Amino acid sequence: MKITVIGSGHVGLVTGACFAELGHDVICVDHDKKKLQTLKDGKIPFYEPGLDKLVHANYIEGRLSFSGDTISAVLASEIIFICVGTPSRKTGEVDMSAIKKTASQIAQALNGYKLVVEKSTVPVETGEWILKTLKKQAPKGVEFDVASNPEFLREGAAIHDFMHPDRVIIGVSSQKAASYLVQLYSPLNAPILMTDIKSAELIKHASNSFLAMKISFANMLANLCEKTGADVVKVAKGIGLDKRIGEDFLKAGIGYGGSCFPKDVSAFIHIGKKSGCNFKLIEEVRNINEERRMHFIKRLEKVIGKFKGKTIAIWGLSFKPETDDTREAPATYIIKELIKRKVKNIRAFDPKTMDNMKKIFPNIIYSKCPYEAIKGADALLILTEWKDFSHPDLLKIKASLKKPIIADGRNIYDPQKMKRMGFSYIPIGRL
Ligand code: UGA
Repeated sequence: MKITVIGSGHVGLVTGACFAELGHDVICVDHDKKKLQTLKDGKIPFYEPGLDKLVHANYIEGRLSFSGDTISAVLASEIIFICVGTPSRKTGEVDMSAIKKTASQIAQALNGYKLVVEKSTVPVETGEWILKTLKKQAPKGVEFDVASNPEFLREGAAIHDFMHPDRVIIGVSSQKAASYLVQLYSPLNAPILMTDIKSAELIKHASNSFLAMKISFANMLANLCEKTGADVVKVAKGIGLDKRIGEDFLKAGIGYGGSCFPKDVSAFIHIGKKSGCNFKLIEEVRNINEERRMHFIKRLEKVIGKFKGKTIAIWGLSFKPETDDTREAPATYIIKELIKRKVKNIRAFDPKTMDNMKKIFPNIIYSKCPYEAIKGADALLILTEWKDFSHPDLLKIKASLKKPIIADGRNIYDPQKMKRMGFSYIPIGRL
């Protein structure tokens, strides 16, 4: 099939490359000229494991191309995926300007039956709005359908998630739209759930909010474990083994970040309020998450004393491992707080994210390797659980730090072992 993907970010580029890999002709569109040039030069504008090879192979074989011209791309395609950004406004409401602009551009290029699919995460009823816009702005008599097909792609595992989904959600209002999308996704052999468009839209916001709720639940438990001497890792394991609950997304830590959960939780709260529903449950999910970073700082402060004049080493800057994404990363909040508390130096190391973090914090020190960051530091903070940090030379860390203090926001080490080795080890939700 001939496919256009509008918006070549983390979702659009993965979607386009994966459909090309499945044998379709895909045009990835973006308005950012610099990004397009990077892609045409065979480079990927962000780090996503395996994406460079997939994009390159499909580009060379001619199934994947890049364009800045939305109208020509839509004219040449049967299916159009909208993958543009839907950032948050200050109120939590979704900023729909990119969706609105894209819908108008698509309307101008409708020249025969086309299926317009929203993949961007959007508030319920957006599909209805797109349909009305297309009806108003498209040439008379031209046929089209609108569908919702939300994405469930985790950064760092996006290709795997695309190729091996737990489920594919298809929200449609016509048989023709359903058959196009079933044809597209059937090679993946995944369960397909067919719904109306509004339900499909809601499934996405509800999924991300539910996962965020599990994380905040684990973080709430972590606070209780710290007060009572229980171990949140064991408690999470114990509840997660119940198949009705499940073990995933119960890792306590310094809170969820990234470009999705914080934005989608806020959007869901806004949608709930606007509809006159009680969404206090989700508001509390957000409150618990926002308290995490300060809780972590305060736990460290109890051991280290005043931050003023201290040198703090940080391992991990991205919002999670296997990505170079700093959006809403807990590290950004923690660094801001440390600067506010007048630390003398922050020395950071991350395997992939330092260039992006330099744009936000140009004045902290970026180290060439994890051990360079800790030399003479008053404490080491672990803020992202990169594999690179799983089995370090603990004796070397102990010898390098001024005092052997490690605050571990991701619970990657065994607290008993750390204590035996003489560390002042500060994990989350365990002693
Ligand atoms: C999330 C969803 O998992 C995807 O299904 C969805 O498609 C995507 O948002 C999106 O809406 O586009 P992502 O934000 O890439 O994916 O990453 P996750 O793996 O979900 O992690 C989100 C945050 O939760 C990270 O900061 C992570 O450290 C944190 N987390 C995750 C925890 O603190 N504890 C856990 O147990 C799991």
